[in-house]
Amino acid sequence: MIVRSGLLLVTVLCGLISACGGGGGNTSAAAQLPITLPAHFPLPSIPADNPLTTEKIALGHRLFYDQRLSINAAGSCASCHEQRHAFTDGLARSVGPTGDVHLRNAMSLTNVVYNARQNWANPTLTDLRQQALAVMFNEDTIELGWSNNEEQILDRLRVDADYPGLFAAAYPDEQAPITVNNVARALATFAASLISANAPFDQVQSGQRESLSAAAQRGSDLFFSERLECFHCHGGFNFSQSVQHDGSVIETIEFKNNGLYNIVGPAPGLPLNRGNYPAGNHGLYEFTENPSDMGKFRAPTLRNIELTAPYMHDGSIATLREVIVEHYARGGRLIEDGPDAGDGAQSPYADPLMIGFQISDREVDDLLAFLHALTDWSFVCDPQLADPFGNIPMHQSCP
Ligand code: HEC
Ligand code: HEC
Repeated sequence: MIVRSGLLLVTVLCGLISACGGGGGNTSAAAQLPITLPAHFPLPSIPADNPLTTEKIALGHRLFYDQRLSINAAGSCASCHEQRHAFTDGLARSVGPTGDVHLRNAMSLTNVVYNARQNWANPTLTDLRQQALAVMFNEDTIELGWSNNEEQILDRLRVDADYPGLFAAAYPDEQAPITVNNVARALATFAASLISANAPFDQVQSGQRESLSAAAQRGSDLFFSERLECFHCHGGFNFSQSVQHDGSVIETIEFKNNGLYNIVGPAPGLPLNRGNYPAGNHGLYEFTENPSDMGKFRAPTLRNIELTAPYMHDGSIATLREVIVEHYARGGRLIEDGPDAGDGAQSPYADPLMIGFQISDREVDDLLAFLHALTDWSFVCDPQLADPFGNIPMHQSCP
């Protein structure tokens, strides 16, 4: 009896520790997963109906890069999520294979398996399989164009030399595994395998303190300071508050208005004559129609942020220096002219943490050095994640 209750206590404690954002002894369970996690990462929570297997990752990897997955065979997931940009596309707003321009900036795919919600501001999108289906079938902005074309696209896979074998290996219990749902499950599994956990910042967590330069260490102190407040919204092992994982006690889902816009003038639904965001990008408000949700977006991970410019949900800030100096230090962005004119620092909907701060040029450099220490070159240059068709070049710094 004593041993049993002792075991129970350990299990509960591990759950609590990992819920606090730490690792908490993931080693034995992690050994059963076909992905590598350092001790300071919690175990991801994987849907029971879509276990993470090596065979499904291999299938998802090929599908992710295969242009035949779009209706006109002109683009794939990887067109908007390139490894050399930490799985984003370098554009302010993505362009789909049929030329449709997306309203938003492609998000980097870095540890997405830990996102409590997927996308910039979608409170309903919880799981990577749903995310893949949404991309396949989206009609507002055509991303892959599967709607009403499912069988045509699946037939391309059925007559291929490799796919029947890859699907059979990934779904060994199924007679006819080349289905819409199994494509989405494999894509979700590959996305879940995109773990980035070996940046200089992580090496410090594993005891190699010398991995951070003196400038990056000073930048780390700034990032985690009450003066700059960054860590309140971009905290935890994944530098994002909205995370969930195995053993999470409380699901954390946060959307915040960081003062990017404060368009002045009447806006439908808003009681005040200010605080508006550009049409189509109202953030959480689009789902709730609650005025206080205007402009609320998810604070995304800052891992690999050096490689994912331009920034914010609409790619409207070009560089990290501008993000710090012209946006956060002011407590919100000032747009002087044009249809979006207004001072984000005065927005009635901006988060109370957006108070601005004084920062010297040297401190900006230090903070940038810290953000650069979140770049994981072993992830960005991992040949196992690269384009198997050889179309998309690797980052020029890769060996
Ligand atoms: C046309 C460009 C485009 C294509 C093609 C595309 N994506 Fe995306 N992806 C985006 C954009 C833009 C977002 C942000 C969407 C939003 O917030 O509305 C995004 C977001 C995501 C996210 C959420 C990441 C996060 O941190 O929340 C995942 C996961 C994702 N895409 C996976 C995929 C997969 C898998 C495919 C292929 C099935 C794919 N994408 C194809 C542009 C694209
Ligand atoms: C009040 C919460 C909050 C605070 C504090 C905060 N951020 Fe953010 N951050 C956000 C949100 C929300 C977004 C996305 C906003 C959008 O796209 O409209 C974001 C976006 C970003 C981006 C762009 C991410 C991308 O993928 O495009 C960077 C870089 C960034 N923040 C860095 C910082 C730094 C550095 C600090 C400290 C000086 C900081 N943030 C403080 C909430 C916050």
